[in-house]
Amino acid sequence: MTIQNVMVIGAGQMGAGIAQVFAQAGFDVLLNDMNEEALDKGMKNIEKLLARSVEKERITEEEKSTALNRLHASSTLEDASSSDFVIEAVVENMDVKRQVFGELDAVAPKHAILASNTSSLPITEIAAATNRPNQVIGMHFMNPVPVMKLVEIIRGLQTSDETYQAIEKMTNQLSKTPVEVKDFPGFVSNRVLMPMINEAIFTVYEGVASPEDIDTVMKLGTNHPMGPLTLADFIGLDTCLYIMEVLHDGFGDSKYRPCPLLRKYVHAGWLGKKSGRGFYQYE
Ligand code: CAA
Ligand code: NAD
Repeated sequence: MTIQNVMVIGAGQMGAGIAQVFAQAGFDVLLNDMNEEALDKGMKNIEKLLARSVEKERITEEEKSTALNRLHASSTLEDASSSDFVIEAVVENMDVKRQVFGELDAVAPKHAILASNTSSLPITEIAAATNRPNQVIGMHFMNPVPVMKLVEIIRGLQTSDETYQAIEKMTNQLSKTPVEVKDFPGFVSNRVLMPMINEAIFTVYEGVASPEDIDTVMKLGTNHPMGPLTLADFIGLDTCLYIMEVLHDGFGDSKYRPCPLLRKYVHAGWLGKKSGRGFYQYE
């Protein structure tokens, strides 16, 4: 099967990044969001990042225009009727994702593959919201998408070999490195990363050190490109909390309990960089 028409659902930081890399790799892309403001912001962000790449001489002006011409905004899931491949990057919540997959299943062509960029949720359960679980798969990009080379590929219980192979090939076409992982909560990346971030938050909560000092220890002492609290703000504290909850519920092990301070910040609307405040304050 040839995949040319791609649709991305959710134009937040991940969806916009995913749409950008597909457009730059020669696919025709529809970027969808239920929120008009978010859609506009996502489209503008892509334009800004491509312009910066021209400035930095990573791409030419012509490559920028070609990529932008391949990219169109969409405000209805009905547009999936012309897609060969749809990838969802909406909020990390099973009920919302199942609702989106149910609606996509009803409108997307029979041959279309439906993927989720979920950070931690079971692909098998998302796939069960459709009548094509063999064509549902996890395609987990890392943030920031245009920069990070990894894509975790997760098979649900019923994902077919044909679907897996198509997604592996597509990942290579995007110049990313695919790694296959089993359908377990948090897969590999977030099962390892998120407990470290959660522990850094406990370290603030218990007054062991300030966020700045914790980040400095991990940056200078263990060569992380960003400290764990800067990274948590960058990922989104809501997303970090959802992932910890998935690990806690999925394994039933208290070692994954989310730090109460993380919960408190999310309840206050301190979601990190995207809301202007998290462990740090942003312009
Ligand atoms: N979007 C797109 N490109 C970006 C970007 C963004 N938000 N932020 C930085 N970049 C690019 C820019 O092109 C920049 O180069 P130019 O300045 O030449 O344009 C380049 O990255 C380097 O950026 P900076 O010099 O500003 O800063 P840096 O050297 O610290 O690199 C970084 C930035 C690549 C983000 C680096 O700090 C890093 O690797 N941080 C850790 C990222 C990480 O761990 N990501 C995984 C998160 S977990 C996840 O994604 C899974 C999940 O489910 C939650
Ligand atoms: P975000 O909050 O930046 O964006 C989510 C977008 O989805 C919002 O613009 C929202 O309006 C839109 N949306 C919500 N429901 C929708 C619906 N029913 N139809 C269309 N649009 C809808 O979130 P994000 O950080 O981009 O994360 C999106 C997904 O990617 C989550 O599943 C998250 O776990 C995963 N993920 C996040 C990161 C990260 O570092 N933030 C990394 C990898 C994967």
